[in-house]
Formats: sequence, C-alpha cells, structure tokens
Amino acid sequence: MTFRSGRHFLQIPGPTNVPDRVLRAIERPTIDHRGPEFADLGREVLEGMKTVCQTAAPVVIFPCSGTGAWEAALVNTLSPGDRVLMFETGHFGTLWQEMAAALGLQVDFVPGDWRHGVDPAVVEQRLTADSEHTYKAVAVVHNETSTGVTSRVPRVREAMDRSGHPALLLVDTISSLASMDYRHDEWGVDVTVAGSQKGLMLPPGLGFNAVSDKARAAAESARLPRLYWDWQPMLASNARGVFPYTPATNLLYGLRESIDMLLSEGLKNVFARHARHAAATRTAVQAWGLEVLCADPGEHSSSLTGVLLPQGVDADALRALILARFDMSLGAGLGKLKGRVFRIGHLGDFNDLMLLGTLAGVEAGLLAFGVPVAASGVAAATRQLAQPN
Ligand SMILES: Cc1ncc(COP(=O)(O)O)c(C=O)c1O
Repeated sequence: MTFRSGRHFLQIPGPTNVPDRVLRAIERPTIDHRGPEFADLGREVLEGMKTVCQTAAPVVIFPCSGTGAWEAALVNTLSPGDRVLMFETGHFGTLWQEMAAALGLQVDFVPGDWRHGVDPAVVEQRLTADSEHTYKAVAVVHNETSTGVTSRVPRVREAMDRSGHPALLLVDTISSLASMDYRHDEWGVDVTVAGSQKGLMLPPGLGFNAVSDKARAAAESARLPRLYWDWQPMLASNARGVFPYTPATNLLYGLRESIDMLLSEGLKNVFARHARHAAATRTAVQAWGLEVLCADPGEHSSSLTGVLLPQGVDADALRALILARFDMSLGAGLGKLKGRVFRIGHLGDFNDLMLLGTLAGVEAGLLAFGVPVAASGVAAATRQLAQPN
C-alpha cells in the first residue's frame, strides 16, 4: 500500500470511527479478570449498558461479534422445532433467519422487498391466526443495516399485544443502539441484541443481550444446546461484577469510556444528532437526483442511508474509485443489492464537518465516475446544516 496522508474516512455503517478517547482507554494494561479491580469495571459497564438500552433488566456482555449475540438470543429462549416469526427486511433479517433454521427452529419467514420495515399488520394477522400459540418468538431487526430501513418496534409490540399472543419479542439493535431511540423496557422487548462496533463507537468484539424477566423464565425450559452463550452462569457471575470465562477486558475499558461519552452528550442529543445527519444526507441524495433506498419516510434510518444508483452504474466500481481517489470506505450493497446500491454510514463518533467531508467524497466520486448528478448535494446539505438546530 502506498502511504496516504490525512485520516481515512471510514463511512461504512459499522464498524465505525473509534474516537481517540476510546482508543486511549483501551490501551492500558490488561488486569486480572478475577481480581477486585476488575469487579468495579464489570459493575460499571453492566450498569451503564442498562442505561444505554433504557432498561432495568440485566444486559449480558459476550466477547463476540453481533452474530454471537444473535445466537445467544435464540439458544437461550427456544427449543428444537419451535416456531419463530421472522421478516425479510434485508440481508441481516435473512441471515438471522438462516441461523434460526440451522439451529433447528421452524421459521416462518415473511417475504419483503428490502425497501420496507416489518409490517405490524402482518404480525397481528399471523399471531391472531395462531390460536394454539405455536409461535414462540417474533424476531425483528430494528435497523436493517443492509438497506437503511428501520422497523417500528413499538408498533410491532402493540400488534403483538392486540393479538393477545404470548410469543417473545427478540430485537436486533446492532446498528441502532446508541444511534437511534431504543427502549427495551418501554417497548416491551424480551431480548435486545446489540454489538460494540456501531453506535457504541468501539472496535468489533463485544455482543450484548438485554434480557427481560419473561426471557429469563423462558430460558429455564429452553432446550436448544448452549454453553458459551448460556445466560445463567453469566448472570450469576455478573451479579458480582465478574464473568464466568475470560472477558474482553480491554474492550470493557473502551466500553466504560464510550458509555461516559454517550451519557455526557445525553442520549436524546445523540439521537437528535444522528437524525439530523441522516436528514442532511437524504437532502444531498435528492439533490444529486439519486434515490434513497428506504421507500417509506416513516422508516428512514438515522445511522445509515442506502443509495440506489441508476441502472447500469456499478456501485462497487464507484466505491472502489472513491476509496482509491478519496480514501473513503463506503458500505457495499449486500446480498441481492450487490452492485446496485452503496451505503453511507453516518453513525457513531461523527459531526457536521465529518458528514460534509463524507458527502463531498461521494459527490466527487460520482462526478469522477461519470454518474449524472443533477445538483450539488454538498451545497444542499450545507444549507440544511447551517439552519439552527
Ligand atoms: C443489523 C445487523 N445484524 C447483525 C449483524 C451481524 O453482526 P456481526 O457482523 O458483528 O457478527 C450486523 C452486522 O453488521 C448487522 O448490521
């Protein structure tokens, strides 16, 4: 690789830019994870994660990526052959469904067009029709990272309540937690699934499950095999601030720092900042004359924007040009969107000028690649960001 001056723009929708404060926090000697000093750290991050998830319930922390936290949610609550209702919101909804099937669950996978979130009316209709209560869980991806489309979790909960169905609600917040408003308790979620490398501004390597009382009760009779992912020994050790096996100690230092940063800014302000950057990004996309992938204005993601390119324009070649010329990484189109879309990540440790730099890189890339651009998206976004908050 040739030397490149200045800072790389990591504008994929996770892993996100890790702030210097977090990097410095991680760069400390690793301590004895069974010693007294560790328990203080453990208690602090376990408590802090409750605040971030907006819950009084325990939050389990695994040394894993988001995929591990997905698996933990399933294997702790379900038994072989259990029926699960899942949704084709995009690539990640599809992968979670594949995992559930591989674990021996019976998945009803509601098809989708990768431009809309979960339809609460479908949830209500499927659960109401299931008078025998054979569905044991409804699993929803809150923010589809492959598309930039969110699902309205409170509306899904209301639909479940109207049907009077006892299924558990499992929610993947891997690319929404600490970027978009998310309330584990108020929204009646049973298992929240999260990861460290997005809104929490950490490197990859931590996975989380917030666990409701109902989910804990389900875990007592759930029969899918589990050992590494078992909540029970985790919760027992966590009560003393420690972990049953070696935790990712240095990432926990980073987590303590990132929670401090998020709470100092205030979660409401964090969410407002992300929403404002997402809105300015959509303004830029519209000015360019391109299409935002999310088809419903009520379902726009605050953490990323999926951009659909005109037929015949290769999104991966455009991204490669932007990386080579402007040193910026953008998200690829995943699964069936490969080559058709690119994704702009605007989450985590981010501010107005970083967003404008990102949009300038995209605009310069579009011009250099010869994509017809109607007007300057950077100018349109700048005007929008110049307005008082
Ligand atoms: C919504 C969502 N779910 C699950 C995953 C899988 O997580 P990981 O790649 O950390 O295992 C991702 C990764 O980006 C994601 O965005």
